[in-house]
Amino acid sequence: MTNATLNTTPRFSTPTDPAALAEARAAMPVRQLMVNPAELTTDRWLVDDDPYFSHFLAVLSAVFPRGEDFFVESVRRHRDAVKDNPVLRAQVRAFVGQEAMHGRQHRALNERLQTLGYPTEHADRAIGRACDRILKLRPNTLAVAATAAAEHLTGVFAAVVLSDDRTRHLLFSQPEVEPLIAWHALEELEHKNVAFDVMTTVGVRYPTRIAGFLVTISMLATVVTQQWIAALIGMHSELTWKQRRRFIHNLRRQRLLHPSFVIETLKYLRPGFHPDDTNTDHLVRQWRARLINEGAIRENRSPAA
Ligand SMILES: [Fe+2]
Ligand SMILES: [Fe+2]
Repeated sequence: MTNATLNTTPRFSTPTDPAALAEARAAMPVRQLMVNPAELTTDRWLVDDDPYFSHFLAVLSAVFPRGEDFFVESVRRHRDAVKDNPVLRAQVRAFVGQEAMHGRQHRALNERLQTLGYPTEHADRAIGRACDRILKLRPNTLAVAATAAAEHLTGVFAAVVLSDDRTRHLLFSQPEVEPLIAWHALEELEHKNVAFDVMTTVGVRYPTRIAGFLVTISMLATVVTQQWIAALIGMHSELTWKQRRRFIHNLRRQRLLHPSFVIETLKYLRPGFHPDDTNTDHLVRQWRARLINEGAIRENRSPAA
């Protein structure tokens, strides 16, 4: 990971410690995004003259709302298991609130993208069907294991986006998109431990954790790749060699579709892994201050336990 350091002390490890509870609440305030993604002004490409990356990013945005509904559902399913742990209970409440807001803002962006010719509705239905299937799998802890793995992926994504200026400027330069992605990434880092800690609390051990990882990776890789290719096939007669060269050029300059992303993702397979092993608090502090100063976000009260 580009700018992250090894953390040796897990956060919020004492369930009934009032200081830890206060810290958990303060660490994940309710926020409003002050930029409206529905007002996206580009008339075609999210990434300048690059339909390939533009469609890839549109697919990613398209799978977020249904994906985040799934994360919330799979964590809520185990809320009784955390009722005696006030810190984790507060974190679950904040997690649910943050994911609901992410889904709402990405839906607004996706509707706008659909009007620009990106087939986001099709991708939304595809990810919805996949998530519904996972929720029915047994054991019933497999869904929260899949969510913990997905939250690891979004955490890796978030750390790259917030720490690598070149990737962010290259892929998220639209003025309505960069604040959305930065705000979403900031909150993904804030709550990156929550699904994992719920999964651990309900007694999930290594084999089910890894099964959840495999379910998430295979489902996401299948849906995202299929939807991306389908979108490109749908407009293949318009694609030019100049755009293909542009994509190859951009591919070399970003760190999302990159071997380092795979290496960070695979750290999840380590038996003693915990999301807080990698300290990303400095990114959260830095971007929280930056987005508030820029007027991109506003913070309300902290969620009650
Ligand atoms: Fe999210
Ligand atoms: Fe998340």
